[in-house]
Amino acid sequence: MYTNITTSQNNAITKIIINRPSKLNALNKETIQELHAAFRVADLDADTKVIIITGSGEKAFVAGADISEFADFSVSEGGKLAAKGQELLFDFVANLSTPVIAAVNGFALGGGLELAMAAHFRIASDTAKMGLPEVSLGVIPGYGGTQRLPQLVGKGRAMEMIMTAGMIDANQALSYGLVNHVTTLDELMPLAEKLAGKIIRNSTVAIGAAIKSVNAAYQDGVNGFNVEVEQFGNCFGTEDFKEGTTAFLEKRKANFPGK
Ligand code: COA
Repeated sequence: MYTNITTSQNNAITKIIINRPSKLNALNKETIQELHAAFRVADLDADTKVIIITGSGEKAFVAGADISEFADFSVSEGGKLAAKGQELLFDFVANLSTPVIAAVNGFALGGGLELAMAAHFRIASDTAKMGLPEVSLGVIPGYGGTQRLPQLVGKGRAMEMIMTAGMIDANQALSYGLVNHVTTLDELMPLAEKLAGKIIRNSTVAIGAAIKSVNAAYQDGVNGFNVEVEQFGNCFGTEDFKEGTTAFLEKRKANFPGK
């Protein structure tokens, strides 16, 4: 069904694997379209409670946007490339109500790190290398990197990473708070699944409301506290809330209907 990605669904988890190993999983136009479609399908799938995104092979998560596709672009084509990509993939992923975990299994450069940063949180193998090398190509990060990197690691560290175009290793990314956990490559997917397993036990409706509220902190002209109040109130009208509170009072495990 897809050319550049594979997807699988099991135990309430959809895995999306970027699969262009000969190009280190670089994001060409077709791959971005396919990822958009796969994320959309997974988000709409009632049986998917967590999405895990990773790269195929042992070398790369994603080595960036596909440089061969935009090398001869004009000013307006460049602008459109960034706008379309942000809309189809990066903002799209960040705003999904289904949690997205990025399992960074190797190089996550440029658009690759931007994709990992668009996920709701990240874990990495100890072989991972992360960076935004765009200024070494005479361009800047265009898929949200100038905004999400400072949000995650602080302005000074983001400025240094962007200006030097250098790479940091997994442990430095851990100390920066860019990734939450570092493990061996073999243990990366089991760890992603373990974290997903903890998320799956909880109310999907409440998690969606929490994502919306956290994201509101980063939206211009939006008061995140007001969004939180509204989302908090909405939870009281859900079946999940009734089940969660009833199960607690009855001293049993909640069995959330996800409504
Ligand atoms: N766009 C297009 N093709 C890419 C790519 C990208 N971002 N990153 C890697 N590739 C391709 C290479 O051109 C090469 O293809 P080829 O075999 O047809 O020549 C293949 O993937 C393997 O990459 P290679 O450079 O030979 O691997 P390496 O181990 O020597 O180096 C990297 C690995 C990640 C350091 C290097 O590939 C690199 O610097 N990539 C670009 C990173 C970048 O600037 N990303 C930001 C883009 S905005």
